Amino acid sequence: PPLDEILNLHDFEAIAKQVMTDKAWAYYSSAADDEITNRENHAAYHRIWFRPKILIDVTEVDWSTTILGHKSSMPIYITATALGKLGHPDGELTLTRAAAKNGVIQMIPTLASCSFDEIVSAAEPGQVQFLQLYVNKDRAITQRIVQHAEEQGIKGLFITVDAPQLGRREKDMRMKFTDEDPSEVKQAGTGSVDRSQGAARAISSFIDPGLKWADLDWFKSITKMPLILKGVQRWEDALKAYDLGLAGVVLSNHGGRQLDFARSGIEVLVEVVSKFKEIRGITFPNEKFQLFVDGGVRRATDVLKAVALGATAVGIGRPFLYAFSAYGTEGADKALKILNDEFEMNMRLLGAPTIKDVTPDMVDISNISSH
Ligand code: FNR
Repeated sequence: PPLDEILNLHDFEAIAKQVMTDKAWAYYSSAADDEITNRENHAAYHRIWFRPKILIDVTEVDWSTTILGHKSSMPIYITATALGKLGHPDGELTLTRAAAKNGVIQMIPTLASCSFDEIVSAAEPGQVQFLQLYVNKDRAITQRIVQHAEEQGIKGLFITVDAPQLGRREKDMRMKFTDEDPSEVKQAGTGSVDRSQGAARAISSFIDPGLKWADLDWFKSITKMPLILKGVQRWEDALKAYDLGLAGVVLSNHGGRQLDFARSGIEVLVEVVSKFKEIRGITFPNEKFQLFVDGGVRRATDVLKAVALGATAVGIGRPFLYAFSAYGTEGADKALKILNDEFEMNMRLLGAPTIKDVTPDMVDISNISSH
């Protein structure tokens, strides 16, 4: 169907399923084991309800915000997802271009199918990009990647901490990852691969399962980029990250692709915010230590719930993969335009002229919270 018939982010998924190769669909859509967490990620948002305010002047509404000190037109970013060329020949570049057009930030994956330099070069002057990092067993390789990223102007390093081993994504494992695949990873230092267990496992054998808290001091010593842990799932770990002086955490279960029965990011957010307040008297959103959430976000209303609860911004993954797989850059652009329209309307209906007005009292979390 033509793009103007696409009304929401779910529509991209339905179309992508029909037009993508079986292998690409399996890799993008799959999640771990019985995919319970993947389903829960989206479902968790359905347990949160709004408490909108009336009779507020919402003639002008502004949903722009600041992420790690950088302007963003919306409180979202495009999160890192590997192997963009499985879905479209231009791969991650479609996201770079769409991000530029819409004033949002792209997180570049370690396992991009375009090279890091290609993705950075495709950015407009001043366009902000982050890097997602898988830590190599060979730390010299990791050091080169990190320092090169900093030199190239990357504004934040998101270290993935929920994947010491890749989850069993059985849809993906049923597909063989063959040698002729055009989406071969271009990133340096990914090492030799076992291709018998699907795309995800084929590309991930270099990741160091020995990565530990003590290594974070080393990261601080090799870069001045803000460090953020991606994949935090309990308040105790968020607090450790805070105490280490990191810039923030992403409360995430990797889109349900790692530990099945991990909780949704939005529920962990409620826990983290409550414990930080109780133990340290810290409130969110907070400039010094920022909370991000990802997983299952498909509507501006989902984003606004996370923002109300204290998140600085929310990461969105699969909807952009489906959008560019079906329609290339225009698809990704359209996905962002849809979100933008949804923000405008929902800010008005909530009675929130700016993002600062989206406060905890705007949501009812009695169905999810025991904190
Ligand atoms: C991911 N994700 C991911 N995360 C990461 O840190 N490194 C990576 O290489 C990838 N690769 C990847 C590939 C694909 C196909 C998907 C769907 C996801 C996880 C991603 O950053 C994010 O946590 C989730 O995608 C968020 O959930 P939604 O928005 O996809 O539901």
